[in-house]
Amino acid sequence: MTSLKSLLALVTLSVTVLAQTCAPLPATITLRANSRLPDPFTTYGGQKVTTAADWTCRRNEISELFQRLEVGTLPPKPSSVTGTVSGNSITVNVNNGGTGISFTASIRYPTGNGPFPAIIALGGASIPIPSNVAVITYNNDDIAQQANTGSRGRGKFYTLYGQGHSASAMTAWVWGVSRLIDVLEANTGHRIDTKRLGVTGCSRNGKGAIMIGAFEPRIALTIPQESGSGGAACWRLSDDMSRRGIEVQTARQIVTENVWFSPLFNQYVNRVPDLPLDHHFLAGLVAPRGLLVIEHSGINWLGPFSTYGCMVTGRKVYQALGVPNNMGISSVGGHGHCQFPSSQNTELTAFINKFLLNNTSANTNVQRSDVNLNYNEASWVDWTVPNLA
Ligand SMILES: *[C@@H]1O[C@H](CO)[C@@H](O)[C@H](O)[C@H]1NC(C)=O
Ligand SMILES: *[C@@H]1O[C@H](CO)[C@@H](O)[C@H](O)[C@H]1NC(C)=O
Repeated sequence: MTSLKSLLALVTLSVTVLAQTCAPLPATITLRANSRLPDPFTTYGGQKVTTAADWTCRRNEISELFQRLEVGTLPPKPSSVTGTVSGNSITVNVNNGGTGISFTASIRYPTGNGPFPAIIALGGASIPIPSNVAVITYNNDDIAQQANTGSRGRGKFYTLYGQGHSASAMTAWVWGVSRLIDVLEANTGHRIDTKRLGVTGCSRNGKGAIMIGAFEPRIALTIPQESGSGGAACWRLSDDMSRRGIEVQTARQIVTENVWFSPLFNQYVNRVPDLPLDHHFLAGLVAPRGLLVIEHSGINWLGPFSTYGCMVTGRKVYQALGVPNNMGISSVGGHGHCQFPSSQNTELTAFINKFLLNNTSANTNVQRSDVNLNYNEASWVDWTVPNLA
């Protein structure tokens, strides 16, 4: 009896120890100057990430850092989420503490019985989506508006959670996609394969697409297109371009233009080197799932040097996890903003084939720019990549 008791005590103790391995962030985040791109493989508390379990903790920490410093709180699934998938329309009904909202999204199906993979397109797709993949058009502006800074607190998300909620428009869009997936998972009367979902969007909606991939693990393939600063770009690299006299969107500018970030972020935009994160960590949050970053190499405002350097650095998390080719970065110019050039077709097709159409032989080893963006890694990265696989 005694030995059984001590065994139980030991088991309880081990479970407790296991559950405690992730050190929580303190109530107040101490900022420390670091002009280089922060190390994804060292925790806020200074511990090296050396195992897959360490990375799980660090990944959660990075998610929390983004929410506390940049994009505000992403609320969990509310108590009541219901809805229907009927014909070409998904209807989502959410109730939170007595307040309710409803929103819809439309589906364009391939012909046939499916189930089909689907790409969720913020405001419609501006990449060519093959005819054997469904397209779900998501009106993200209905969830959180993005006309200008006057859009703060406007949209159905804020009807539900209050105008003063810390969530940025992008965070609200993540939340909306999560509720769409909740409804798809809970209904059987449709031809969508919920295990094969992608997300895309261009420009401002490309910023949203990478955030959705980062914060919603049920997305299998994330394809931000020309998301630029605030998306695939790193704040530090964009500030560097700005110092060199290039007209690029920076953190200090972006918060004066729109509500893509939380008001929480305003206090940090003039002290970017003090932030314990940068946007290469967004790629780290998407990992190990599929991620193809499509950028424009010739529009300075989007920060071509910044997006390329940032995402090449983010790909190091995929390297650490043993799946470098689950992420691609392709930067190509010579076309209008959001006008997908045919020279990127092979890369896009390969990622869709591999992550949505089960084609394991697709070649997704993609890291290129059509012009030399002169990104010198040694100036920005002073850490090494562990083997976490
Ligand atoms: C991909 O594979 C999964 C699991 O085997 C299956 O459920 C799904 O229908 C397949 N999708 C396609 C498009 O072949
Ligand atoms: C798989 O993808 C590769 C490269 O994208 C392509 O050449 C091949 O035809 C695809 N196979 C199938 C069965 O679709």
